[in-house]
Amino acid sequence: MPFTIAIDGPAAAGKGTIARALAERFGFAHLDTGMIYRAVGAIGGDPIEAARRLSATDLLRPDLRSATAGQAASRVAAIPEVRAALIVFQRRFARTGAGAVLDGRDIGTVICPEAEVKLYVTADDRTRAARRAAELGADYEQTLAELRERDARDAARDVAPMRPAEDAVVLDTTLLSIEEATSQAAALVAQRLENH
Ligand code: DC
Repeated sequence: MPFTIAIDGPAAAGKGTIARALAERFGFAHLDTGMIYRAVGAIGGDPIEAARRLSATDLLRPDLRSATAGQAASRVAAIPEVRAALIVFQRRFARTGAGAVLDGRDIGTVICPEAEVKLYVTADDRTRAARRAAELGADYEQTLAELRERDARDAARDVAPMRPAEDAVVLDTTLLSIEEATSQAAALVAQRLENH
């Protein structure tokens, strides 16, 4: 049976960095599920149609990392039919190869509730805004407002809201370096792999 690592949490908490590091360290495939919602939002038109027709090349659009694409993603992600159309692809990805790391908002709760490792990566919102503003070369106050708006929408929606799974391990990265955060996550994965 493949080994699945589910990583959830709010924007800019370090999910992506940790997910990439774990995938590399353990030789697993990695799927950044936020990119799927970003692509659906960026395509425009009817988001339900866009989600149903989404293909791998849509994920290569150059503008997907922007704050505007993040907001559009958060809006289309609240539409139940959009989420439903994207479930099969994500679950199939989780079952390919020896193991997979998926990061997003509902991986441990909805997409892969049986995941061997569930991490909920979080951090103080000012810390997250500072990190994201530096990464995008954007204004701090505007980035903070944007993150707060997106987190509130993602946590309040009716379908698959952002929240830690009951059996998730919470990793607060506010006071951790990237190295400390990834090594704590890797230690947990190594321990679960031993008993797998
Ligand atoms: O991880 P990200 O910031 O790239 O995600 C962009 C938006 O997509 C996020 O604000 C909410 C949505 N999203 C989601 O609803 N479920 C996921 N599994 C991943 C992202």
